[in-house]
Amino acid sequence: MTPAVTPTNRELDSKYLWHANTQHRLLVMRPPLEIASAQGCYVFDAKGQRYLDGMAGLFCVNVGYGRREIVDAVAAQMDELPYCPLTQSHGPAAQLAGRMADLLPNGLNRAFFTNSGSEAVETAIKIARQGARRLHPRENRYKIIARYRGYHGFTMGGLAASGQTARRTAFEPLPQGFLHVAPPDPYRCTFCSEKMACSLACADEIERVIRMEGAETVAAVIAEPIIGSGGAFPAPDGYLERLRAICDRYGVLLILDEVITGFGRTGKLFAFEHSGIQPDIVTFAKGLTSGYLPLGATVVSQRLFASFLGEDDSTKFVQISTFGGHPCSCAAALANLQILTQERLWENAAAVGTYLLEQLRGIRSRWIGEVRGLGLLIGIELVEDDSKTPLPDSRMARVMRDCRQAGLLIGRNVESAPGLANVLLLSPPLILSYEQADTIVETLSKVLSGL
Ligand SMILES: Cc1ncc(COP(=O)(O)O)c(C=O)c1O
Repeated sequence: MTPAVTPTNRELDSKYLWHANTQHRLLVMRPPLEIASAQGCYVFDAKGQRYLDGMAGLFCVNVGYGRREIVDAVAAQMDELPYCPLTQSHGPAAQLAGRMADLLPNGLNRAFFTNSGSEAVETAIKIARQGARRLHPRENRYKIIARYRGYHGFTMGGLAASGQTARRTAFEPLPQGFLHVAPPDPYRCTFCSEKMACSLACADEIERVIRMEGAETVAAVIAEPIIGSGGAFPAPDGYLERLRAICDRYGVLLILDEVITGFGRTGKLFAFEHSGIQPDIVTFAKGLTSGYLPLGATVVSQRLFASFLGEDDSTKFVQISTFGGHPCSCAAALANLQILTQERLWENAAAVGTYLLEQLRGIRSRWIGEVRGLGLLIGIELVEDDSKTPLPDSRMARVMRDCRQAGLLIGRNVESAPGLANVLLLSPPLILSYEQADTIVETLSKVLSGL
């Protein structure tokens, strides 16, 4: 009898696994990196090769890998109570909701837990539609205004809110009632890139759309404070304030999607703290548990929550999730937030992020069109020439591959606008050191000079 041969992970993967966002035909030539372990800011492949994780997984491992406190908290929770739905109650969810209310500004204090960022956004959209009808009972407010290049998740509602055509087309028709306007993008702004200063015309466009559509039909505006995976576009000064003022003028709810930016990434605990405003609804996932377990949250204002209160079931929020707010995920989040706040990691993100941004801006390369970002969320837009022709796909792929070969994992925007898949993305763990920032700069500098 021939001895049984145990298939390798690579063989099992290539035969049975369906990867995210991947053309499987090409995997034969370019198999995915098999990550076997991780520590701090580094991940290690199956052969023991070390990589600096410039993306913190997918924008999420904020406190870094290998945090024993989170592992222990989850193990203890598994032992104590491995499951309980939120039609009942359990300590970790109640404590986490309370902790988030402490950390968020006054009034943003009611959390609905989900399993992912997409579900957090889906929940926000549903709450906004039902809530807007409660707050304006004689109107039918259901439209959601979002921005091109923004990303809000893979579910049908999240996709409908997302302004990235390449991610949407195959699944259309998407839910109705979603409108898009230009994102803030000073480098390619159709309103004011030729002018001396930003006029916030892209924010004013939202007011024009509300008026043209009729405010009595508009439920909410949804925005990432910094567009993340679409290409790292920080909101210009005054942009969020203008959005808040427009929403208030027309009784429209403001949803801020902090799935990437929440919990320290941009140099503040929440990205909206860079402005003087606060949203009516805010969505979280990724950094909430630093990716140790899946968890999303939709947090709403007291005023909005109160609009769902009534004498019978007719005004309740009709949504149930088997795993949303799982006790082990909440335990992971509580331990994660303990680390984050004890070590004040947003301060490191601000300091090292500013340094990294400056050093990247100092790289002399004909391919760099713009380096932009805030904290440890940075985009590097690569172009062919002064007319800002985007670097073609093959060259972008080469930069990614060469960085990987040099031991650095970086990200890249998907085609967040037709023809514009030319932004390298950096979103490392918030514990990144200055030396590790230097490694990123040296590696990118070398790779770009060899292009
Ligand atoms: C801003 C934003 N919202 C929502 C999502 C969806 O989150 P998830 O992948 O956890 O479903 C993402 C994912 O990258 C995101 O960046």
